[in-house]
Amino acid sequence: MSASDISKVACVGGGTIGFSWAVLFAQHGLQVNIYDISQAALDWTMREIGSAYSTLVEAGLMTEADVAAAQSRIAITTDLAAAVNDVDFVQESGPERYRIKREIYRELDQLAHPDAILASSTSAMLMTEIQAATTRPERCVVAHPYNPPHIVPSVEIVPGEATSAETVEATRDFMTRMGRAPVVARKECRGHIVNHMQAAIYREALWLVGNGVATVDEIDLAFKTGPGLRLALMGPFAVGMLTSPGGLQDTFVDRKLDHSQEDDIPSRVEREAPPRTPELAREWAKICTAQMEAALMGSDREQIKRWRDRKLLQILEVIASD
Ligand SMILES: NC(=O)c1ccc[n+]([C@@H]2O[C@H](COP(=O)([O-])OP(=O)(O)OC[C@H]3O[C@@H](n4cnc5c(N)ncnc54)[C@H](O)[C@@H]3O)[C@@H](O)[C@H]2O)c1
Repeated sequence: MSASDISKVACVGGGTIGFSWAVLFAQHGLQVNIYDISQAALDWTMREIGSAYSTLVEAGLMTEADVAAAQSRIAITTDLAAAVNDVDFVQESGPERYRIKREIYRELDQLAHPDAILASSTSAMLMTEIQAATTRPERCVVAHPYNPPHIVPSVEIVPGEATSAETVEATRDFMTRMGRAPVVARKECRGHIVNHMQAAIYREALWLVGNGVATVDEIDLAFKTGPGLRLALMGPFAVGMLTSPGGLQDTFVDRKLDHSQEDDIPSRVEREAPPRTPELAREWAKICTAQMEAALMGSDREQIKRWRDRKLLQILEVIASD
């Protein structure tokens, strides 16, 4: 199955993430079946879909006619077999519990076409632990969006140990076709890339509140009017490279960012330990610096800074216009 062959998809679970995937897929011309466990859940799904499309019309991204066409491509059902039996791609967005995900995958394996790709929206789980419930582990992969997936481009594609390279490539191409910005993780990790990093932010925010440094309102204000603005434009590595006189080495090691290690609080997303010794941090910082230098090779950093400042002013203007 190649990405261009995918014309019919199923969204399994029509909650916060499932409805939003359906909005995206139908907007891009695909037939979409949405499955959920009750009619009440599906009624909610359809209300959310209507509201999401209204916002896209208000933003000038779709016309009323586009919306009518997209909505005509969406079908809802509480019958899992009917939802998945003739689709090319399943986007599973059920509850974040291994027991439930495995059960869903077991059923999908029996009901979906043998060639169909079974992608999971899981925020933190390992596909290796889920795909073992199927007879087609090579067709199973994580495709993790960032909420809401019909607006935010990020999709992390994470293969399990038994996922085939063909499935990874087809999923990557498909998500690109859907206007997303897929990133393929090189190995599995709880929380993938983005939630792994997000966990660090929450851990530090908890530490600051717990130690009486600031209230939640004060942290939100400081973050959104500071780092949040820059992070809207570039990733943390590019930010670090452009803002520290000594570059990334300076950012990671010499400024001792790991100041709260003695009061570490377990993160919401279970994860491996960050570097605990200055030696290891220094070694990893060298790898990061080399990769970042290679990425920036030949580019004019002063020009990038001017671009950043122009964009920051534009973002501030958008925020002020509210
Ligand atoms: N909420 C987020 O910000 C976010 C972001 C990215 C990924 N995710 C992931 O997406 C998945 C769904 O999260 P959500 O926030 O949409 O949750 P949600 O609770 O809003 O939706 C889950 C939906 O699954 C349905 N459901 C329950 N049992 C089911 C079953 N056996 N089979 C199929 N559907 C079933 C529920 O009725 C509900 O509509 C999770 O794996 C989560 O980690 C969530």
